[in-house]
Amino acid sequence: MACKNKTNEPTKIIAIDGPAGSGKSTVAKALAKKFGLLYIDTGAMYRALTLKAVQKKIDLNNEEALAKLAQEVNIQLNMHAELLQVMLDGEDVTRAIRKQSLTEKVASVAKVALVRTEMVKLQRKLAQQAKGAVLEGRDIGTVVFPNAKYKFYLDAQAAKRIKRRFKELESKGEQVEVGDVAEDITRRDQSDMTRGVAPLAQAKDAIYIDTTTLSVKEVVEKISRKCSI
Ligand code: DC
Repeated sequence: MACKNKTNEPTKIIAIDGPAGSGKSTVAKALAKKFGLLYIDTGAMYRALTLKAVQKKIDLNNEEALAKLAQEVNIQLNMHAELLQVMLDGEDVTRAIRKQSLTEKVASVAKVALVRTEMVKLQRKLAQQAKGAVLEGRDIGTVVFPNAKYKFYLDAQAAKRIKRRFKELESKGEQVEVGDVAEDITRRDQSDMTRGVAPLAQAKDAIYIDTTTLSVKEVVEKISRKCSI
């Protein structure tokens, strides 16, 4: 079933969910480019909001304060060539939101129901304004766009996901130990999959793709074959 925006025009949605390190971001970015659609990294939004909470010294257990912050904050995602720039109330936080020390804090913010309501609202608005988007996250096919025609769930063996994440951090100049990355991925998987609101899950109608031994190009081709956009 096609998704409709307010003016009743069809919105082309490709929903990509999966755990950290499954290859979602690279694949989603490539698909957006290929199909001329907006790329929406929903994880970047939860990261940006968490950074704002840290900057404002908000207690990450204070759900009311986090929900209020989610209503007030201005998060913008801009694509520049192949790079996603993340703006938070006018500040470029592209690099800051990827730091390991910040990543560890995101789960506390992402589990708050009212925070998710605001983020989902923003995600739907952006996709509908653009009349189509490739969205990647944890709840795109289950909550954000449950009627999306094209849904994919990317996964990979834990060892491979840890390796990818370690390489990504290393390439950004972060000093990290593989053991710490492994611990973070395990903790995040657990938290993302077991939280009460919008846990990471494969939508019933999503196509499962194990990316452990596949290249980015192979995954993009696999998905493209299923999408007539
Ligand atoms: O995709 P990522 O690693 O940048 O996401 C960071 C965190 O944000 C992730 O651990 C869980 C959360 N998240 C979420 O709860 N829902 C989404 N749609 C996307 C991310």
